[in-house]
Amino acid sequence: MKPTHIEHIGIAVEDLDAAIRYYEEVIGLECYAIEEVKDQKVRTAFFRVGDTKIELLESTDPDGPIGKFIGKKGPGIHHLAFAVPDVNQALKDVEEKGVRLIDQRGRLGAEGLEIGFLHPKSTFGVLTEFCSE
Ligand code: CO
Repeated sequence: MKPTHIEHIGIAVEDLDAAIRYYEEVIGLECYAIEEVKDQKVRTAFFRVGDTKIELLESTDPDGPIGKFIGKKGPGIHHLAFAVPDVNQALKDVEEKGVRLIDQRGRLGAEGLEIGFLHPKSTFGVLTEFCSE
């Protein structure tokens, strides 16, 4: 299992529209997609910067994962996503190395990617995602 690049950085925001304006007007990136992921109770917005994306996450439910995160820690960097050739294989490999998983198997995430999360208790406090096309 070897990641090829940082696929995206997930950032929890309170106001998606205001955050989109910031990334467009201040940072100079272009939002190319806005997508609601009902399963995760979020609205997402995507920006490309090289091979990497910025994924803004706005909660649609205070009890959803992003709602809870913001309630506890406030807005900010939420997770780091590595592109890997095969999510299920990558999850299996790190589990064999003693890492605790959130997802035992890959599932469908935003943009039709297959995704799986590692537990931040096992990853030095960084919620870590694997994703593959
Ligand atoms: Co993500």
